[in-house]
Amino acid sequence: MSRDASFDPALHRSRRQRILDALGDGLLLLPTAAESVRNGDVLHEYRPGSDFHFLTGFPEPEALLLAFRTGKARHHSVLFVRPRDVEREIWDGRRHGVVGARRRFGVDEAFAFGELWRELPRFLAAHRRVFHRLGVDPAFDRRLFDLFGAQARRDRRRAPPAHPVLEDPLPTIAAARLVKDAAEITSLRAAAEITVAGHRAAMAAARTGMHEFEVQAVLEAEFRRRGSPRNGYPSIVASGANACVLHYHDNDRRMRAGDLLLIDAGAEIHGSTADVTRTFPVSGRFTAAQAAVYRVVLRAQLAGIAACRVGAAWDAAHKACVRSLTRGLVELRVLRGGVGHLVRASRYKPWYMHGTSHWLGRDVHDVGAYQSEAGAPQRLRAGMVLTVEPGLYFARNDRRVPRALRGIGIRIEDDVLVARGKPQVLTASAPKTIAEIESACAGV
Ligand code: GLY
Ligand code: MN
Ligand code: MN
Repeated sequence: MSRDASFDPALHRSRRQRILDALGDGLLLLPTAAESVRNGDVLHEYRPGSDFHFLTGFPEPEALLLAFRTGKARHHSVLFVRPRDVEREIWDGRRHGVVGARRRFGVDEAFAFGELWRELPRFLAAHRRVFHRLGVDPAFDRRLFDLFGAQARRDRRRAPPAHPVLEDPLPTIAAARLVKDAAEITSLRAAAEITVAGHRAAMAAARTGMHEFEVQAVLEAEFRRRGSPRNGYPSIVASGANACVLHYHDNDRRMRAGDLLLIDAGAEIHGSTADVTRTFPVSGRFTAAQAAVYRVVLRAQLAGIAACRVGAAWDAAHKACVRSLTRGLVELRVLRGGVGHLVRASRYKPWYMHGTSHWLGRDVHDVGAYQSEAGAPQRLRAGMVLTVEPGLYFARNDRRVPRALRGIGIRIEDDVLVARGKPQVLTASAPKTIAEIESACAGV
């Protein structure tokens, strides 16, 4: 397992500096994610907010980062956290507490979360701009505006502005997260390696007669065994025609001989996730019709990956995949006509209805703009990571396609690091050719 970057205070300090320099002078307020109730007194598994964790590495709920620049290459950062509490820690586990937060996470000051509203006015009074995203926690927003109002009433004789201007910091943080730093690339490589191992284990374990969730258990056990504490998103384990349901989550069908099994799953580690899809035959061998469709999707995916070059538009992979898939649909006798015309008329859409790529990082659909404010597509730069995930989905009752293809759904998804020269496929060791997949299904 690679080094856990999430506890490196110097790394997080340098990330904070980078964001504060990009935002300019002002006070950044960044709460972590809220806990959410599953039922009664049971909470959903907790995961810190991605932006908050990116800038602090702090894992506990009920926490907030306050930070501001104090000069060139310097800043002041404050964490508000849950205080130590002997009684609560018996029930919920150990907390870092105020002292631990300051010592371990490299911030300048730390306070108990309950002191936030008492401490905030003196910080607010010293800044003309406040960076805070509205709408996530309306109760927080109301209290913040109450403080603004109090400041305005108190300073009513001062030349405007009596209270700070509010700006949204999240686009600036998203732009920074779009180009991954060295520590995030290390985490993504670790996530990719673990994810590939899980997919391999699933291929070796799947058998006719098993339920989809049994294969899911094998896959996720391998993720956990290799150090991933959770998935980056709920695993899609879709056999037969279930593969045509893009966000299938029931995972409860019993698999039959001759089925394909589509697994879209990614392990999270050190805050980053992989996102991999493989489709393989439950009985170990592709039928002729399945292999024909598989080859079409694979050829498109390779064309898409080759398009992920520095300077290319972010959707160059989509365009390459669409052209290649459309050619394949003609070869499979689903469409007739010239490929150029069929692409322009979007005739592939009934069987390829989703996009080909999204940014990948801490979030499976990671933050970062896809186009400029003027509408120009984002250009790829070294250090960006995106998926390439073409597929074809022929529903069981689709009379527009040859009978032999009905009920076949195939997607192939890899994670691509844009680099100078050729794109790097972080998930390249996952079996992908028909021969590699049939070997992996045989446990070789
Ligand atoms: N696993 C979600 C996606 O591929 O976008
Ligand atoms: Mn994806
Ligand atoms: Mn996926």
